[in-house]
Amino acid sequence: MVQITFVQPDGSRTTVDASEGASVMETAISQGIAGIFAECGGAMMCATCHCYVDDAWADKTGERENGEEDMLECAAAELKPTSRLSCQIRVTGALDGLVVHLPEEQA
Ligand code: FES
Repeated sequence: MVQITFVQPDGSRTTVDASEGASVMETAISQGIAGIFAECGGAMMCATCHCYVDDAWADKTGERENGEEDMLECAAAELKPTSRLSCQIRVTGALDGLVVHLPEEQA
């Protein structure tokens, strides 16, 4: 099992178990993490799953997917170099311990 820690804008942290093969967005939704809306269900059409990958993990989560950059432009919160659509980050064993920060707003 892979563990992912979600950090809210106020600094509160929640660590959950994630299944390999799921996305970070699916993990957040299934575990009731506040701050990830995922209105399009992972089709890369809403940007309400925007998150900031912790700097220490940015290399391990890889590059943004094709089209992700354009969708991120629609995100409600400030974009940062580590901004990702959490629906496009696939959970693998290499991401055990991943830390993801949530933005102030999603819509
Ligand atoms: S869930 Fe809509 S873009 Fe990720």
